[in-house]
Amino acid sequence: MWAVAKERGRGRGRPWWAWWQGVVSCGLLLWAALLLLPCCVSPAGAEGTQCGRPGRPVNGTVSTSGRFYFPGEHVAYKCLEGFVLFGPEERTCLKNGSWSEDVPLCDFNLARGKRALQSATLWSYVPEMAVDGNSDTCSFTPRGPDPRWWQVHLGHKFNVITVGVTISPGSVQEFTIYVIELLTDNKALYKPCTTFKGVFQTRKALFHCNDGLGHPGQFVYIRDDRKDQEYFGLCEVEVFAFRERIPCGEPEVPVEGEVEREGEGKARYSCRPGFRLEGDEVMTCSSKGKWQGQSPKCKESQCPTPAQINNGFMEVANFRGVYGHGTVVTYTCSPGIPPCGGRLSHLQPHRPVE
Ligand SMILES: *[C@@H]1O[C@H](CO)[C@@H](O)[C@H](O)[C@H]1NC(C)=O
Ligand SMILES: *[C@@H]1O[C@H](CO)[C@@H](O)[C@H](O)[C@H]1NC(C)=O
Repeated sequence: MWAVAKERGRGRGRPWWAWWQGVVSCGLLLWAALLLLPCCVSPAGAEGTQCGRPGRPVNGTVSTSGRFYFPGEHVAYKCLEGFVLFGPEERTCLKNGSWSEDVPLCDFNLARGKRALQSATLWSYVPEMAVDGNSDTCSFTPRGPDPRWWQVHLGHKFNVITVGVTISPGSVQEFTIYVIELLTDNKALYKPCTTFKGVFQTRKALFHCNDGLGHPGQFVYIRDDRKDQEYFGLCEVEVFAFRERIPCGEPEVPVEGEVEREGEGKARYSCRPGFRLEGDEVMTCSSKGKWQGQSPKCKESQCPTPAQINNGFMEVANFRGVYGHGTVVTYTCSPGIPPCGGRLSHLQPHRPVE
């Protein structure tokens, strides 16, 4: 950590050691431009290519809690029981010290563990298997000429905005998702959310209701529209309500930095002494639950390369590739070289003297 680099000042075309031959009695060693700053050795090194804390979603967890990470390291995100992850399950520390992608969100699944029904049940593939939180177990209706449907009772009225459907990938599907609202006079309003027709490319697909505006209702109902007599199977159905404001979780924290929450909506950043903030000092929480702004970094403050001197040499201590916080430059005059010693009054910090 305590690397020392030495550079020699060269005097007017003569080799530096020639000056040691001088006999005139200057004899004075000048210690000038001593940049003695309190030392703090960065765990991250001077280059700032490590990633800081990656942040964490509300109602979610992140796999590790280190203060800094090296490029290529991953962190994994999970949501608490009953919540579903939106966004990446894993983020990687990139070469430039940023994390890949965004912190994911955890949203509450209204359907989980709720009462479910279907048109008819094949063997033991009960409708609750689509709301048990395990997408390896599926509900099935028998094949037949009768209409096939599945529904879940959410318990209360919610403005349903998103429905996640998990089905065996590669299967041909055609279905319509409805939100059912019970009205006071024993009537029910079936409000179409969205329609799907085609091959299920992935295991899980998300459907947005009413072009993202949502529909209020107490039930989510899925009708199989295929004309062929097929089994209708659902491995998981997840239901999410519209939220006016999604809270932001823990923001990212840069290496050598700190973050202070100002209420729900603001995060204020600062850096340790000797480091300066690069990026936004304040990030604000958007209504979608994401911190907005450029995630700041703390860069080590640097001095410009110190000038060389004639008739002497300089010594650089605590050099870590840059003239950073705590670097000490010591200038020494070669003995016997006028005007060595005569110009002390001209000394200024950060400036070499002849
Ligand atoms: C989810 O997060 C919210 C906001 O922090 C909190 O009020 C709620 O209790 C959390 N839910 C659970 C199940 O931890
Ligand atoms: C870091 O690199 C990634 C991808 O290479 C890029 O998207 C991101 O904007 C970079 N971040 C900064 C702060 O330069």
